[in-house]
Amino acid sequence: MSQTKSHYASFRSIGAYVPEKILSNADLEKMVDTTDEWIVKRTGISERHIAAQDEVTSDMGAKAAQLAIERAALNNDEIDLVLCATVTPDYFNMPSTACIISDKLGIRNVQAFDISAACSGFVYLLSIAKAFIESGMKKNVLVIGAEKFSSIVDYTDRSTCILFGDGAGAAVISATDNAEEGFIDVHASADGSYADFLVTPAPGAINPVSQKVIDEGLNFVQMKGNETFKLAVKTLTKDVKEILEKNEIASDDIPHFIPHQANYRIIKAVGDALKMREEQVVLTVGKYGNTSAASIPMAINDIWESGRLQSGELMLLDTFGGGLTWASALLPFAGKSK
Ligand code: ACO
Repeated sequence: MSQTKSHYASFRSIGAYVPEKILSNADLEKMVDTTDEWIVKRTGISERHIAAQDEVTSDMGAKAAQLAIERAALNNDEIDLVLCATVTPDYFNMPSTACIISDKLGIRNVQAFDISAACSGFVYLLSIAKAFIESGMKKNVLVIGAEKFSSIVDYTDRSTCILFGDGAGAAVISATDNAEEGFIDVHASADGSYADFLVTPAPGAINPVSQKVIDEGLNFVQMKGNETFKLAVKTLTKDVKEILEKNEIASDDIPHFIPHQANYRIIKAVGDALKMREEQVVLTVGKYGNTSAASIPMAINDIWESGRLQSGELMLLDTFGGGLTWASALLPFAGKSK
């Protein structure tokens, strides 16, 4: 496909932060009526990491972001846009977590804002970074997916508490004149008619904080798990097929398929439908659980740190989440190999 842009968006670096404390399936067996066997069989998750009580989303996001900036060989003052995707911000109204992270990193006087697209947040951010860079408005965009998901999980609800974990991932997206390094494509979409599949009812304009919110636990995430599962498999498969076809790339030519890490069975069903070989598919759900907007950058960081992701190699990202939202991206890793 011929492109005549003067600026291309390139994925320069990756960083992540994983909190120290592990919540294992054995721990959950003591908290709710579940078993390690059920959780592993239905989700592929063995453990997840949980942030310390005094460790918040911006702390994790700032640590991941600092690593990403260093690995891009930039100084913090060369970042000209800070974006954070989260559904567990430090504050639900204001200030944004992106502003707090900017302050923690000493990045001052640059545009900073959050987006809310649940698990699709990080790939949504890639589409925003791409637009800012291709329009020539920004040069080095810091994109962060960070979640303290444990802050909205009801640890007496076995249908949700087994799934989620905390963590953060970040990347620097920079302008380049080299088309070979540029993003190939990003798709991002939504269908609000499925809004009730994944909801945190409070706090918000519909349910401001009240005794009722506390008594009924409306501040915790609620999920129609089975319906979400089925729609996720269908949507993810369709979305990946479309982005590959549009860009005339065969699934066989993708060295790194990095799907949202929600459930091993969803990833397996999508991988099988696309005829992906096992070694193409990146899997971290077993050790991190579902970390929402942090899941994809944490997975990219894992394969970069292990030396599996090399400079110039193609990544296919694919995600879905509350909203419902979904997104996919095709892009080369334009940073240095480890
Ligand atoms: N341990 C033991 N039994 C359980 C547990 C548990 N932790 N949780 C549910 N069950 C039981 C149910 O009560 C039900 O029992 P019943 O048949 O007696 O009624 C039975 O297991 C089957 O329940 P289902 O909900 O049908 O189980 P399913 O196979 O669908 O697995 C799961 C549930 C794991 C939640 C699955 O539906 C799933 O992963 N859905 C997708 C969720 C997802 O990806 N959400 C994140 C979206 S991303 C974002 O934006 C946050």
